[in-house]
Amino acid sequence: EYLVKMRETLPKGRIPAKIFNDPQVYQLEKERLFSRAWVFLAHESEIPQPGDYVLRWIADLSVIVVRDEHGQIRAFRNACTHRGNQVCKAEMGNASHFRCSYHGWTFKNTGELVGVPYHREVYRGQLDKNEWGLHPVRIDTYAGLIFGTLDPNADSLETYLGGFQFYLDFFLRPGPEGTEVYAPPERWVADTDWKICAENFGGDGYHTPVAHQFGFALGFYPSTGRTHFMGFAAHIPGRGHCIGIGHTPGLPPFPGFPPEVVEGYQQALTPEQISVFRDARMAVATVFPNLSFLIQPFSLTPGKPGLKFCTMRLWHPRGPGRIEMWTWCLVPKHISPELKREIYRVYSLAFGAAGTFEQDDFENWTNLSRQNAAFNADTFELAYLQGLDWEPLSDFPGPGYAFTPYVTEIGFRNLWGTWLNYLLTPPGERVDPTKVPPAFYPTKHASAAE
Ligand code: FES
Ligand code: FE
Repeated sequence: EYLVKMRETLPKGRIPAKIFNDPQVYQLEKERLFSRAWVFLAHESEIPQPGDYVLRWIADLSVIVVRDEHGQIRAFRNACTHRGNQVCKAEMGNASHFRCSYHGWTFKNTGELVGVPYHREVYRGQLDKNEWGLHPVRIDTYAGLIFGTLDPNADSLETYLGGFQFYLDFFLRPGPEGTEVYAPPERWVADTDWKICAENFGGDGYHTPVAHQFGFALGFYPSTGRTHFMGFAAHIPGRGHCIGIGHTPGLPPFPGFPPEVVEGYQQALTPEQISVFRDARMAVATVFPNLSFLIQPFSLTPGKPGLKFCTMRLWHPRGPGRIEMWTWCLVPKHISPELKREIYRVYSLAFGAAGTFEQDDFENWTNLSRQNAAFNADTFELAYLQGLDWEPLSDFPGPGYAFTPYVTEIGFRNLWGTWLNYLLTPPGERVDPTKVPPAFYPTKHASAAE
């Protein structure tokens, strides 16, 4: 199998093209990756009131995420325990109970089965309702994000994030109160593999001056070729999470953010985090497997400094070479409604469904997904060669490994090594992050590694 061979070629920076659009790989991803990883479900601000719920997905499993009457957040398989029918069909709403449309079994938003039609007649009153509640999905949260996993033995979310929280805080703690979503997510389907999007948002600063060239040329993207490569790339070994941070030095701290947000960062972040992010022009990150974040400036008036927005996006797999895209605009909770609206407007023009940057990316992503599904793509190797022998920074204050400048493919090799580790670990065994090969081999150790 070409995946087994990939274990040897990946440390040399070679990846079979076929992984990006193969029906068998997709099947394995469902069985071995999405069934065991922590998958993003919702932001707490999407369900602020008791009874609020949203429907979300873990691969092809529909999940109800609900805040119960006591304010506790819970998640359930959206499947009636009688025949498996979807008990909740609306995508969002407020409900104290979910009633199945087939035979009418009724569940409280705590999952409890409370209503069974003709209980006395058809079960002679003997059905043990306690045994037939909705199946809970294990959840945990970080800074307002709700994640779920179908694996009862998975590491805790904290362990799974493995220190990546240090970097996530740039997106999630623009003030002591954190963030909220501005509006419900925008969604659309596209013919591309979810992995290529996750990789791009793991820090592909390489494509920006080419694919998004117009943004530089027309002045919508206030950066220059001279500073574009400055900054850091960091990743958490064996966990797959990675970030690219583009720096423009010499500006006031947290450039492009309104004063309220600059203030918020100073209060909410640690001095180490501030030292990493104060010069950030932009930052783009992926939480393995398929959740990404981007903060970047976009100027509505070409040539002007512009305003920074934050988007959170989920690359939801919908089949081989097909995704459903979910994108939210995250805004700092503590700022004025006017400012939130203005940030949302900038976000929509750059990264909404019709956003200018979005179009550039999907044009490339759909084409490469089609090419990589071609009949011999398992022997067609892709070049993941950047930074193979780079040294990580020794005095970097953040967790994991960090490198400079920020344009490199080191984090992507760690991403695909982590992915491969899930796919090659048989069901029932623990996915061991220490089995992921290093993503770089500094020259002085190269002979030992050969
Ligand atoms: Fe839900 Fe029968 S399938 S009540
Ligand atoms: Fe892009």
